[in-house]
Amino acid sequence: MCLIPVLLLTNCVCCVTGVCRYPLGMSGGQIQDEDISASSQWSESTAARYGRLDFEEGDGAWCPEITVEPDNLKEFLQIDLRSLHFITLVGTQGRHAGGIGNEFAQMYKIKYSRDGSRWISWRNRQGKQVIEGNRNAYDIVLKDLEPPIIARFVRFMPVTDHSMNVCMRVELYGCEWLDGLVSYNAPAGEQMTSPAYPVYLNDSVYDGAVIYSMTEGLGQLTDGVCGLDDFTHSHVYNVWPGYDYVGWYNESFPSGYVEIMFEFDRTRNFTTMKVHCNNMFSRHVKAFRQVLCHFRSESDWEATPLSFSPVVDEKNPSARFVTVNLANHMASAIKCQFYFADAWMLFSEITFQSDTAMYNTTLAPPKTGPPPNTQPDDPTHKVDDSDTRILIGCLVAIIFILVAIIVIILWRQVWQKMLEKASRRMLDDELTASLSIQSETFAYNHNQSSTISEQESNSTYERIFPLASTSTAASKSTTTTVVQDGVPHYAEADIVNLQGVTGSNTYAIPALTMDLLSGKDVAVEEFPRKLLTFKEKLGEGQFGEVHLCEAEGMQEFMNKEFLFDIPEDLPVLVAVKMLRSDANKNARNDFLKEIKIMSRLKDPNIIRLLAVCIYSDPLCMITEYMENGDLNQFLSRHEPEGQLALLSNAPTVSFNNLCYMATQIASGMKYLSSLNFVHRDLATRNCLVGKKYTIKIADFGMSRNLYSGDYYRIQGRAVLPIRWMSWESILLGKFTTASDMWAFGVTLWEILNFCKEQPYSQLTDEQVIENTGEFFRDQKRQIYLPQPVLCPDSLYKIMLSCWRRNTKERPSFQEIHQALLEIQP
Ligand SMILES: *[C@@H]1O[C@H](CO)[C@@H](O)[C@H](O)[C@H]1NC(C)=O
Ligand SMILES: *[C@@H]1O[C@H](CO)[C@@H](O)[C@H](O)[C@H]1NC(C)=O
Ligand SMILES: *[C@@H]1O[C@H](CO)[C@@H](O)[C@H](O)[C@H]1NC(C)=O
Ligand SMILES: *[C@@H]1O[C@H](CO)[C@@H](O)[C@H](O)[C@H]1NC(C)=O
Repeated sequence: MCLIPVLLLTNCVCCVTGVCRYPLGMSGGQIQDEDISASSQWSESTAARYGRLDFEEGDGAWCPEITVEPDNLKEFLQIDLRSLHFITLVGTQGRHAGGIGNEFAQMYKIKYSRDGSRWISWRNRQGKQVIEGNRNAYDIVLKDLEPPIIARFVRFMPVTDHSMNVCMRVELYGCEWLDGLVSYNAPAGEQMTSPAYPVYLNDSVYDGAVIYSMTEGLGQLTDGVCGLDDFTHSHVYNVWPGYDYVGWYNESFPSGYVEIMFEFDRTRNFTTMKVHCNNMFSRHVKAFRQVLCHFRSESDWEATPLSFSPVVDEKNPSARFVTVNLANHMASAIKCQFYFADAWMLFSEITFQSDTAMYNTTLAPPKTGPPPNTQPDDPTHKVDDSDTRILIGCLVAIIFILVAIIVIILWRQVWQKMLEKASRRMLDDELTASLSIQSETFAYNHNQSSTISEQESNSTYERIFPLASTSTAASKSTTTTVVQDGVPHYAEADIVNLQGVTGSNTYAIPALTMDLLSGKDVAVEEFPRKLLTFKEKLGEGQFGEVHLCEAEGMQEFMNKEFLFDIPEDLPVLVAVKMLRSDANKNARNDFLKEIKIMSRLKDPNIIRLLAVCIYSDPLCMITEYMENGDLNQFLSRHEPEGQLALLSNAPTVSFNNLCYMATQIASGMKYLSSLNFVHRDLATRNCLVGKKYTIKIADFGMSRNLYSGDYYRIQGRAVLPIRWMSWESILLGKFTTASDMWAFGVTLWEILNFCKEQPYSQLTDEQVIENTGEFFRDQKRQIYLPQPVLCPDSLYKIMLSCWRRNTKERPSFQEIHQALLEIQP
């Protein structure tokens, strides 16, 4: 019997509701009998515990004691889910009992509670409470909950319009609410009286009290629906303008900020907060200018708040997630002050990511099978077309088996290469992708059935991606799809650590080259430490730091081949990577290895090692630095030539100079790839800008706090620049010149966007990883970075060629360099 889950993954960015639709365990039995209760029962054989969808035990359903009278809402069937859940769908069924019974609920209402004491009546987005139920005693009727519910307790309350006997069997669908948010308190949303028509920016589904402000509830900021770029429009049918957003007007807040207080179910270790903001600056709406967050753990508020200021964006009017790094603060409540950047501030969604390692796994949601899919335009989905379902199921099974075979072939190749490589591997920290766990994956693929793997895959997933939560769309579906489609995953590969001892990334180099290196002496001179003047800290890693310094008399110490276009005797800006003196032996060895690697690099477009201090501790590596800092910050400060720049008086960079810089990056990479070196973290943050738009490629990005949002942290062990990484780097841990080429494409995209936007800024980290799976599957569902406004078609074509699935089809840096030279007029 092939009962295969058919997952329809939408591209919809934030609707969790599309994927968080797992049966929570009424029919599957994971919800225990004692957690199902009722106001009354007609007999022992129609007790609450028989109210399970698709169950025929007892007398076939839960039936309350007395006839349900019109408007009599005393009777209910109650389910305790034991922890907070995000519930998106409910299913109901009557009592059939093999033809003996004929009772069902034509209508019902839902009440829910997060704490077991305050009960809230569910209403749909139009304010209606009553839900259409069953028409007969045997069909299952599924209803989408719009808006979804976040609750631990749910009650089904049958409603009739005439006196009759009712019986119910039910199921809840959703997933666990890992955000842990129990309520948010905020000033009430306001009304924008724009020129033509009013826009209502109130929180229309808030389930707490709203008087002057909102207290003790959850609402639109947690309903899993992100607003559109134009806030006057909505995904939701038949609602007023401004529906998706909660918005505030600066004139109502003399303090200049809106304060939102978030309460959580327990003390959590917070990593990030993501705020989905509108940025339609033409209507005086912008994301916030600054946010100050105060943390309360136990009963005390921490003395110093965390502050974060996103870049104010006046170029791109699209709505976006702004990610605030909460730096592992422990808290059970967070109070954030969002400062206005313009007259209006509009939020549609706020999510929190916290360390799930501390999570009570015993409370893991009971899950049985695939999430059901109802058609959005046909919410009443009756499950009686079982023949078609079986047919579709079988077809899908065949497809899965084919995919599995392909993956096995692919896996064999990878494995063989791995074995070859392993035998001559010299660097223990070189790219290692042990795919051993993959064999288990294939087992899943072979005996495909709807329920296996769910538990296992889930636990693996949760372990590897602690951020995966209900709030961040697609995560659960990744779980299922990943395993089912045989997409290898970081969960299955050893995690590659790109980070060197001082926190910057380290180049991967072929084993052969390392052999050659080990024979040679380091061809750089010792520099007297006292001639270095500290200016600022650029970044840090586990065992060291990177400092920006001025070096006096560097010219004398530099190797003769280095040509330096600076006047004699002036101090030179240098970056100093410094190993802390308490670093262990391994770290010291790694550091010396890094010196060897760096000393080999001699190219006008690659940062060079100038000198070292290795006679005494702390060990230092002195490399070039450039006066204009990194390309990311450099471009963020500049504007494209044009009207806007003229008006704002901002410094500009011409298109030709953008191309010139890109060409130099290609040239530097051409050199690296000629040595078979793999950079592994190419991005604008890792390119330094000198005079006259000269560019040199560096490797500090990873160590810098400023860019921590560009890296995804896995298990606190490795940080990965996933938005710049090729699919094979993410899924297989494979880093090659071809994956550097992928990153080059992303870097080019950043440049053409003047670094005003993070790649895939609309996607969460988990969605980026999910998108990687789509690149692997290659079923035209992968999302490419869009063509930047400034980017001519010819250049965009080049970018797209960098993102080809087949690594062999991607261009070489030689070719790219040539192509870019030709684009420059
Ligand atoms: C929000 O505003 C709309 C439009 O005026 C109104 O119908 C609705 O009742 C309001 N909702 C709340 C919760 O105040
Ligand atoms: C919070 O999590 C981080 C990363 O997992 C860890 O390093 C830190 O020690 C944790 N903080 C506490 C107080 O547990
Ligand atoms: C509100 O924002 C507008 C536009 O940025 C600004 O001109 C005005 O001074 C602000 N008002 C207050 C009270 O801050
Ligand atoms: C976690 O589990 C422990 C023991 O199983 C329990 O005492 C505690 O209340 C649980 N925490 C939460 C937040 O449920």
